[in-house]
Amino acid sequence: MSKSTAHYRPETRLVHSGTLRSQYGETSEALFLTQGYVYDTAEQCEARFKGEDPGFIYSRYSNPTIAMFERRMIELEGAEAARSAATGMAAVTTAILAPLKAGDHLVASRALFGSCLYVVQDLLPRYGIETTLVDGANLDEWQRAVRPNTKTFFLESPTNPTLDVLDIPGIAEIAHKAGARLVVDNVFATPIWQSPLALGADVVVYSATKHIDGQGRCLGGIILSSEAFIAEHIHNFMRQTGPSISPFNAWVLLKGLETLGVRVRAQTETAARIADVLASHPKISRLVFPGRADHPQAALVKKQMRGGSTLVGFEVKGGKQAAFRVLNELKLAKISNNLGDAKSLVTHPATTTHQRLKPEDRAALGISEGFIRFSAGLEHADDLIEDLTAALEKA
Ligand SMILES: Cc1ncc(COP(=O)(O)O)c(C=O)c1O
Repeated sequence: MSKSTAHYRPETRLVHSGTLRSQYGETSEALFLTQGYVYDTAEQCEARFKGEDPGFIYSRYSNPTIAMFERRMIELEGAEAARSAATGMAAVTTAILAPLKAGDHLVASRALFGSCLYVVQDLLPRYGIETTLVDGANLDEWQRAVRPNTKTFFLESPTNPTLDVLDIPGIAEIAHKAGARLVVDNVFATPIWQSPLALGADVVVYSATKHIDGQGRCLGGIILSSEAFIAEHIHNFMRQTGPSISPFNAWVLLKGLETLGVRVRAQTETAARIADVLASHPKISRLVFPGRADHPQAALVKKQMRGGSTLVGFEVKGGKQAAFRVLNELKLAKISNNLGDAKSLVTHPATTTHQRLKPEDRAALGISEGFIRFSAGLEHADDLIEDLTAALEKA
């Protein structure tokens, strides 16, 4: 067990928390690529299985490299416990499915990443779990959706891709009065800009694939919560069903955490500069950037977030044709459905991440045919602005 680093500031925790140094005294955390573990005696093996000896048993359950990644995330997030998973979707699905049973009810914000929407709208009902989608920005809708069997509220904030910010403390209060828990997908905010547990959420989930890796290498996810929630609902589900992360990916993510603060700050500064240029651009009909005074929930951003976003959303005049023209003209920013990368990535949500939605549902969420999501990378801001303004000229 590593020593607690909870008294240090987040930047320090990102570098040091959770390190389990082996007998060789390595500087960089070791990568334990092993499926299993050997025991000195049959008695020790028996004690390990009984939970009386605190070592590792099998890497589907846990692994020293994975334990380091989980501990670093726990101390960064201010959680009591965590379980990592193979992907962000494995983490989301486990966090919302594992504690529920047939007859329970879940309420979720309608503005969800496409795969999360599939889990809520299509998958859970197949197993007898009722679900209701609400306009997440409207607290009355959360309240009205509550039923006697409501067990979970689920949201992401800022939302993907329109970057709306939802009132986490307000929604947590409604959930708790109803005897339900609030699960927050904090991918867009990152642990650098928002701490959902401190705002009243009960569970926080990440696709570590995004900013935590931040260099486009591997997938991963993590669920963070109280000791009781992880022990009661997550631990055994993950052990027995096996959506476990590879130790190699956990190692990449652990090393990614060391530079997370530096990267997210630099990418946010760049995104803010891009937003300022786009705000007055004649070819843009709508701009969303958490952190600007003209963001629809600017007051809420100030209250619950420590910074803006590495992403900018904007609508090009001229619909899909104009948006595609911009994407195709960009030389530096790459067309991709991913985000949070060192390389700037640009997405057309209506035809990719949210193409599964009915056109009327997309329109209700503000995902128009001309809407583009820009994930700022680590390139020089001036190069990105020149690239974007040149592409907009052609739109
Ligand atoms: C908000 C959000 N949640 C969850 C996921 C799923 O993560 P992963 O691709 O790692 O499964 C993504 C992106 O893919 C996302 O944008």
